Amino acid sequence: MSASIATNATSFEEKELLVLFGSPHPNGNTGKLLHSFLDELPDHVKVTVYDAYKQHPMPCIDCGYCTKKQGCSQRDLDAFMEAFERADFFVVASPVYYNALPAPPKAVIDRFQRYFSARFSMGIRPPVKKPKQAALLLTCGSQEVAGFAAIRSQMEMAFTVLNTTLIGCVFEKDTDRAPVEKAALLRAKRLSYKLTGAGDTNDD
Ligand SMILES: Cc1cc2nc3c(=O)[nH]c(=O)nc-3n(C[C@H](O)[C@H](O)[C@H](O)COP(=O)(O)O)c2cc1C
Repeated sequence: MSASIATNATSFEEKELLVLFGSPHPNGNTGKLLHSFLDELPDHVKVTVYDAYKQHPMPCIDCGYCTKKQGCSQRDLDAFMEAFERADFFVVASPVYYNALPAPPKAVIDRFQRYFSARFSMGIRPPVKKPKQAALLLTCGSQEVAGFAAIRSQMEMAFTVLNTTLIGCVFEKDTDRAPVEKAALLRAKRLSYKLTGAGDTNDD
């Protein structure tokens, strides 16, 4: 794990939120959306951020290990997967690269293959026990929204075996022309309220 933000959790109602951060710029366009999303979460939501560019996740090599045993032959994502299995909430925050996820966060998504194998090769139902609710925070430089649709489709496909339901998305386009707008920061904040059940529940 690269960073753990915000603890102060009360023991009786603690919730865990895991972020897969897929931008090389911690304070860039996607980072700004994520900061707005995280900065007013209640104390009982414990946040862990996995920074894919800092952690250099290995790609899935389709070695077949997970078709015979639970887990992965590569151990670099053990802590991430444990945090994922514990999490109540899962957030993917990423820029669009060539209408898709950048390579480091995509490597993490491919490594979820262990749960596909657990479900379909080993018959484990559900392969991820704890249900989760998820949100996407995505930015792209142009006015082309195909990348958002592609990433949402990719994540929804992964979520089918991850016991995870997509609750909402914030898509901010046109960042090459103008910085992330205040309205998008507000949408990110509202989505965090919607996801965690905290604060203002108005939806955009
Ligand atoms: C390698 C690369 C590929 C990109 N591909 C796209 C793209 O397909 N569509 C698009 O609209 N913007 C694309 N962009 C622009 C980024 O999505 C945009 O600048 C984004 O807001 C960067 O977020 P960040 O500041 O969090 O890194 C690309 C940028 C890079 C560096």
